[in-house]
Amino acid sequence: MAGSVHGTRVTGWGAYAPSLVLTNADMEKMVETADEWIVSRTGIRERRIAGRDETTASMAAVAGLRAIAVAGLQPDDIDLILVGTLTADYPMPSAAALVKDAIGNKRAAAMDLAAACSGFVYGYATAHAYIASGMARHVLVIGAETLSRYTDWTDRGTCILFGDAAGAIVLSASDGPGGTLGIEMTTEPAGAYFIWLPAGGAARPATGATLEAREHYMKMKGSETFKMAVRTLGSTSVRAIETAGLGLADIDLVIPHQANIRIIEALARSLDFPMARVFVNVDRYGNTSAASVPLALAEAVGSGRVKQGDHILLVAFGAGLTSGAITLQWTADPAASDRANAIGPSDVTVLPGYLEPVNPFPPALAWLLERSEQGSPR
Ligand code: UT7
Repeated sequence: MAGSVHGTRVTGWGAYAPSLVLTNADMEKMVETADEWIVSRTGIRERRIAGRDETTASMAAVAGLRAIAVAGLQPDDIDLILVGTLTADYPMPSAAALVKDAIGNKRAAAMDLAAACSGFVYGYATAHAYIASGMARHVLVIGAETLSRYTDWTDRGTCILFGDAAGAIVLSASDGPGGTLGIEMTTEPAGAYFIWLPAGGAARPATGATLEAREHYMKMKGSETFKMAVRTLGSTSVRAIETAGLGLADIDLVIPHQANIRIIEALARSLDFPMARVFVNVDRYGNTSAASVPLALAEAVGSGRVKQGDHILLVAFGAGLTSGAITLQWTADPAASDRANAIGPSDVTVLPGYLEPVNPFPPALAWLLERSEQGSPR
């Protein structure tokens, strides 16, 4: 699509979190840990786990359809679908291609973005560039993860942290005031192996030995990641606010990546920014990687934390180490959130492959499925 340079604004938002709940009391039964340790070190009380019939593409499609409904659009109005994820259903095809089919879009280009927990913010920035250049008018940007299937449920240093979910926005062309005001993205390869998934790629293809060594699960140097996260989140935030021509005092709400309450509090302290103006839901979902910021945004708007005219900062960091921040002025009517209420998992079907389906649910959590099938949510 040819055209002049456009501004962009968020016109739709939506999220999906699976219904299975894994609590800290459950974690105590799986690894040597304690609710008190998890809450005081991370702020996490529970996380959601994708069900047997759910995948990254299926959850992404529900969140995406919700965002399209909130925007008052039809699936075919979307020109480009971007899915930030590190847990796509397959290395190929992309999750975005499966999402395109599942939401019933016939015309969009579709691709995944590999920026780990910054995947949604990187996707937002990419969508903005597509729209600003005239190559797209409406872009569906999704962050979606099924981390439970890449988690080593015997490693207490990581398994208490992560959860599954999806979140989405529609970013649309706009020549009106407000909308996207400032964008900053960084990548610091010095921390490339602080969080990584060693095997299954071209450098360490899957073998019996890699399986035996549990190298297909996420590994993390927690405290190194923590320190670098606080530093880069702060500097990325400041630059995205400055690019917008604003100061910190102008920001009404910060919506940070929900990795750990101590990281969020340290960020607020380092910026001298009040926690009362920082959105937190890490207690209920844990770290959902690329899904974290759009899930928090949809909850913040749906729960009345965002008003038209508010200045919002979205900021994330993740493996790479990547970091990204967006400053925007909110223009949409928060009441449009209600348009997503009628949409649920039964509205999407992910195109199946031609091999016999397998049960992808983590064997270490099989008891969680049984518990929910007996009618007990937690
Ligand atoms: O999206 C980005 C993803 N990554 C992150 O955001 C992670 C950033 N890092 C963190 O959130 C924190 O580093 C953790 C929550 C992972 C760990 O907290 P920490 O305060 O940095 O603890 P630590 O790693 O320094 O470990 C302190 C102690 C160790 O015991 P010793 O060696 O002092 O005896 C650990 O073995 O805590 C122990 N420990 C645990 N104890 C109970 C580690 N995990 C657990 C656990 N329960 N789950």
